[in-house]
Amino acid sequence: MIIDTHAHYDDEQFDTDRDELLKSMEAGGIGLIVNAGSTIDSWKKIVELTEAYSFMYGAIGIHPDEVGDMDDVQFSRMSDLLELDKIVAVGEIGLDYYWDKEEHDLQKEWFIRQLGLAREKDMPVIIHSRDAAADTFEIMKQHAAGMKAVIHCYSYSAEMAREYVKMGYYIGVGGVVTFKNAKKLKQVVEEIPLASIVLETDCPYLAPVPYRGKRNTSLYLPYVAEQVAELKGITVEDVIRQTEKNSRELYGL
Ligand code: NI
Repeated sequence: MIIDTHAHYDDEQFDTDRDELLKSMEAGGIGLIVNAGSTIDSWKKIVELTEAYSFMYGAIGIHPDEVGDMDDVQFSRMSDLLELDKIVAVGEIGLDYYWDKEEHDLQKEWFIRQLGLAREKDMPVIIHSRDAAADTFEIMKQHAAGMKAVIHCYSYSAEMAREYVKMGYYIGVGGVVTFKNAKKLKQVVEEIPLASIVLETDCPYLAPVPYRGKRNTSLYLPYVAEQVAELKGITVEDVIRQTEKNSRELYGL
């Protein structure tokens, strides 16, 4: 089965047809979905989704763009939610210097606090990092050594990907890999072992070709799997089988 390791079905872009869409996942070959947390508001919706659908799991965390809303009360709420059976990771957490919505020091502070919480609870982390390669790498080295992690929507060099793989982390590959101009990510996929790759959508964002620019859903993951297979010169079935295994190991599913 295909596992979507990073989706946002709490997003309002799914408000019109969420139930219908999610009920079509099994027939579309999508076996399990992990819905990542982003805003404080997303948490309640994520828990509800995991309660409503057997194949839906969740992660709770605060995205670097949203850390201005965080305080100790919300942090302790986060800690409580992480105890729920179907909440399997802390995320998405990290640094975003591209949108640069919050001060870098504040982003780092909440990134490190959430890594600490994940370590305390022995849970994997979902890392969001954009235009912040060096700082993310430094913080992961200092605060996440030996932990399970996925670098979601990986956008950096093959060299850095190899470093993350050495640290035991997974590299999240989504729709971008199908884009014509995505030379760097294609190179990453070619160079790192399949045992370190997991598939993801980040839906409703980043739909693969031929749906680029449209609303993304997990049903489009076969296009990502096909591109990975082509780059590695193996069958789609092999990609699906190995990435399922990797995703289960990452999240303990
Ligand atoms: Ni995301």
